[in-house]
Amino acid sequence: MEKKKILTGDRPTGRLHIGHYFGSLVNRIEMQNSGEYDPHILIADVQALTDNFNNPEKVRKNVKEVMLDYLSVGIDPEKTTIVIQSMIPEIAELTVFYSNLVTIARLERNPTVKTEIAQKREIFGESVTYGFLGYPVSQAADITAFQGKYVPVGEDQLPLIEQCREIVRKFNSIYGEVLVEPEAVLSKAKRIKGLDGNDKMGKSLGNAIYLSDTPEEITKKVMSAVTDPNRIRKDDKGNPDVCMVSYYHNLFTSKEDCKAVCEECKAGKRGCVACKKQLAQNIIDYLAPMREKRKYYEDRPELVDKLLIEGTEKGREDAKETMRKVRHAMRLDYFDV
Ligand code: TRP
Ligand code: SF4
Repeated sequence: MEKKKILTGDRPTGRLHIGHYFGSLVNRIEMQNSGEYDPHILIADVQALTDNFNNPEKVRKNVKEVMLDYLSVGIDPEKTTIVIQSMIPEIAELTVFYSNLVTIARLERNPTVKTEIAQKREIFGESVTYGFLGYPVSQAADITAFQGKYVPVGEDQLPLIEQCREIVRKFNSIYGEVLVEPEAVLSKAKRIKGLDGNDKMGKSLGNAIYLSDTPEEITKKVMSAVTDPNRIRKDDKGNPDVCMVSYYHNLFTSKEDCKAVCEECKAGKRGCVACKKQLAQNIIDYLAPMREKRKYYEDRPELVDKLLIEGTEKGREDAKETMRKVRHAMRLDYFDV
């Protein structure tokens, strides 16, 4: 049976953290290793530039960082095609053609884009760029270029998939049935809160533990995590439900030990410092194999480059095929070349 083609992507604007890990990487690794899929991952540097156009060095650097993160967690280039978006010119071409099929009003209504514009006032001021407003069009090109049928995403990406589906339907109704209409597959992955208790873990919030953090960095960050604010002395009875340390114990600590954490905390028999030290050690141990694997690839930059080039070339074959069909359907295939 033919494997189902799936497409996911990340904007390379920073190294990946444990929020990315539990939020999407675990899911991607599971799908990759199930053998049922033909997974593609797009390192979306063009999309990253839509809100980092004035910081190209940052995007360039993070393409490599994100690739190292993928390799370190077990994304296997033998099984998963990893592609650099800007090296697929067909995506840019498709974006131009699709831009006729979507209105400005529709883009302005996209809930994800709307939220992001509101958060990015310091970049865009009162008036957002054409490129940022239009990134859903470019993302529709990402997905359709590879004829991706399934797009595993988190909740926040659903409006983008819906917008892509509309573009596909419009294209197919005008030019003929050429494009594959993708379906979102809502991943069961959880959203991980930040060390400060914020709903989202993120670089700008300074509340993230990165997959590539050193043991010292991990310890320092865990020591600063938000605990039960009502607990002042060690023998005060605590409430682990309002403590980020207990929240992370649930991700990195054995069930048995988690039970002990909760019980001792509630009984006032556990010091927060000891509790944090135990957590820090567990996170350090959990991430150790990833740090090791990352080091292996960091020491072999030519190998990483080779893997990126090969993945991109492989992905481009699909994009070229799509482009050929699109040009034909749009009556743009003037010469038989
Ligand atoms: N918009 C996605 C994000 O911010 C990244 C992305 C770019 C993507 N192209 C994609 C996701 C194609 C899925 C499919 O995380
Ligand atoms: Fe949190 Fe542990 Fe302190 Fe309880 S003992 S408040 S779980 S850090």
